[in-house]
Amino acid sequence: MDVITSPSFAGTVRASFPVFQRRVAGKPIAFFDGPGGSQVPREVADAVAEYLTQHNANTHGHFRTSEETDAAMNAAREAFADFLGGTPGEIVFGANMTTIAFHLSRSLGRELGPGDEVVVTELDHQANQAPWRRMAEDRGATVRAVPFLAETMQLDYQAMERAIGPKTRLVAVGGASNAVGTINDVRRVTDMARAVGALSFVDAVHLAPHRRIDVAELGCDFLACSAYKFFGPHVGILWGRRELLERLTPYKVPPASNDAPERWETGTQNHEGIVGAAAAVDWIAGLAGGTDRRAALDRAFEMIEEHERGLFQRMVAGIEAIPGTRIYGVPAGAPRTPTIGFTVPGASPDEVARRLGEEGVFVWNGNFYATTVCERLQLDDCGGLIRAGLAPYTTEEDVDRLIEGIRRIVG
Ligand SMILES: Cc1ncc(COP(=O)(O)O)c(C=O)c1O
Repeated sequence: MDVITSPSFAGTVRASFPVFQRRVAGKPIAFFDGPGGSQVPREVADAVAEYLTQHNANTHGHFRTSEETDAAMNAAREAFADFLGGTPGEIVFGANMTTIAFHLSRSLGRELGPGDEVVVTELDHQANQAPWRRMAEDRGATVRAVPFLAETMQLDYQAMERAIGPKTRLVAVGGASNAVGTINDVRRVTDMARAVGALSFVDAVHLAPHRRIDVAELGCDFLACSAYKFFGPHVGILWGRRELLERLTPYKVPPASNDAPERWETGTQNHEGIVGAAAAVDWIAGLAGGTDRRAALDRAFEMIEEHERGLFQRMVAGIEAIPGTRIYGVPAGAPRTPTIGFTVPGASPDEVARRLGEEGVFVWNGNFYATTVCERLQLDDCGGLIRAGLAPYTTEEDVDRLIEGIRRIVG
């Protein structure tokens, strides 16, 4: 792909996405559900099709297509080491982030017992709470849930400090909130965990499409994300500290490899999905171009951030100008993704999503599995939030259609 420069960024990006040739109500789709799952560029779909039609085989066999599959899996681990930091030997593939977290929780749970403590946060998606809560329940350990401050939608770091102590064994924290866009100070939390000898797990599902991730900078022990949120197929990726991937005991069948990282991959993998996920990393890197993938990803995320920042201001200003709307988010200038959760007067989130959908403006509504966020904001009885998220393919026209659509609904 050619190097893309602003201001035609979204226009050039969109050329890669066949979905935008579709028409709903006579218009292209204005897709604001990136936090639910992004659209997929042709290059990624082609990579999936090419794998299935030319290379489809099991790994570790003695024939051409099996060897090609081994090579593709290795190449994908390299792509994700470039994407997340760390080394290819620390990359584990799985069905999705939720399945990966439950899988890992069984192994981490083997080392827990009564008296041990696990810390989760109320700002997190259930996928970064339920596995650890269940693990603690199974092992008789205690869960400490750290609240967020409703005024700022940020984690209560003082409460976090109080929750983490000598009995803490694991701290699970989100990179960013999929409901309201808050970017957490992950490093601050992982430092607290390390100071007491606890492990840290980062849910980077909502952060990964918007910010360059480096596990070394974040200082975590595990980090998981999902390729379908950043232009790839439905595949989950785990980065785990090598020493832990080797030392912990995964739940696996005896004949499967005992070597990390493969020992963590249960059953036959979704090879085509993994190939597509690696193609998504290459597609992002291709936004910037160049042969050094890590450097290209650095620049590509700067471009994505710049594009999304400009549009975000337009979206927020437009929605805020509609009387009675309420955006639940961090104070201006605080770290955040371009995802907003909001309510409007006189129409439920469900109704807003339906009516916008009829006009080809796609948003999600409800709690987005961030159930504790909506509970704390007391939004459950009124249907939760409306959520709109920006992506590299979002245009000013999309944003204006969203704002106009809401204006019409509110009346
Ligand atoms: C922040 C966050 N964490 C975890 C998940 C769960 O991811 P997966 O669907 O890969 O299990 C989601 C999905 O929306 C999410 O937004």
